[in-house]
Amino acid sequence: MDKFEALGRADVNDIASILADDAIDFGTTEHHTVARGDTVLTWDYERTRPGLSKLYERAKTSQWNGSTQLDWSIEVDIEKVATEMQGAVQGLRDRLTAIDNSPLKSWGDPEWTKFSIEAFNWRMSQFLHGEQGALLCTAKIVNTTPWIDAKYFAATQVVDEARHVEVFARYLDTKLDGHYSVNANLQLLIDDILNDNRWDMTYMGMQIMIEGLALAAFGFMHAVTEEPLLKSLLRYVMSDEARHVAFGVLSLQEFYQGLGNSEIRERQEFAFEAALRMRDRLMMHTVWEKCGVDRGMITKMLMSIREPGGNPFQAALFSKIVPNCKKLGLLDAGDGWLRERFTEIGVIEYENAPDTEVEYALLDAVNEESVAV
Ligand SMILES: [Fe+2]
Ligand SMILES: [Fe+2]
Repeated sequence: MDKFEALGRADVNDIASILADDAIDFGTTEHHTVARGDTVLTWDYERTRPGLSKLYERAKTSQWNGSTQLDWSIEVDIEKVATEMQGAVQGLRDRLTAIDNSPLKSWGDPEWTKFSIEAFNWRMSQFLHGEQGALLCTAKIVNTTPWIDAKYFAATQVVDEARHVEVFARYLDTKLDGHYSVNANLQLLIDDILNDNRWDMTYMGMQIMIEGLALAAFGFMHAVTEEPLLKSLLRYVMSDEARHVAFGVLSLQEFYQGLGNSEIRERQEFAFEAALRMRDRLMMHTVWEKCGVDRGMITKMLMSIREPGGNPFQAALFSKIVPNCKKLGLLDAGDGWLRERFTEIGVIEYENAPDTEVEYALLDAVNEESVAV
């Protein structure tokens, strides 16, 4: 199979196809989609998966309450937080400005400040929508996984995700000044995951790809912001997310061992397609356009600087996805198809970044802290 066939476009650089996604309508108040896959009742209640069992025990003692453990009385200076974040990606801003005929050459501080505030609203809005996607996908896992230990853990993840939707919605409503609708590519990926009838694909799409990306994005924001409410909110959410990615890795490691070559190839293709979707398409078109920059122009500009190290958001994305695929055995399975693809797009160097199981121990420390208080 040609590597780009799965994306339904002739070439990963097909800008017209990227722009066409912006026109997809997901509704103003509701979006209906179909969840496929059998709902499985198991009569095997024996606890045979100690790794999942340990995560479940951890989840039960790591619950937190966003209403009482976060200080919602804190006043947020949106401009200050937005500027902190923009400052952290100054290199990206400089590279975009330096491109020939860049419309950003004429931008001064007021334009960058407006852009930074809109970008902050946009990111928090996508976190909110992504969290709702996680809530629904995990509820689906409770139904479709045949393993009792996985049903138990997934049930704890459902309440975790409800809490995440709740705290992001509250932050957006009470501290920020604008919501954005869901990014088309994020929603297309969530729809793909819900529509797929293979139960393990929910884990691959949500726990590995989307939650891997979320963990990278939360980590970036947590590292650069000094805003105490946001910092605390992200720290709590990240400690849950690390558990969720670990759940995906543990479950898929076991399941993939029983699959044949053609089934493994399907998983490799799914992982590559999802990674490309996120790399090429999370471009904040609506934000750029609101700030007067043509979406076609910014798409070309962003695609021209995506070599390794060129864009910190892409570096963060692949430094999660590549090591997690390696941990699952997907990089070198079969004839090493996925290794070749990641090499071709210049991201194989991230294979030795810490995988989420390693990070989990560090992030889980917040639970120790909250228990100790
Ligand atoms: Fe979440
Ligand atoms: Fe999660």
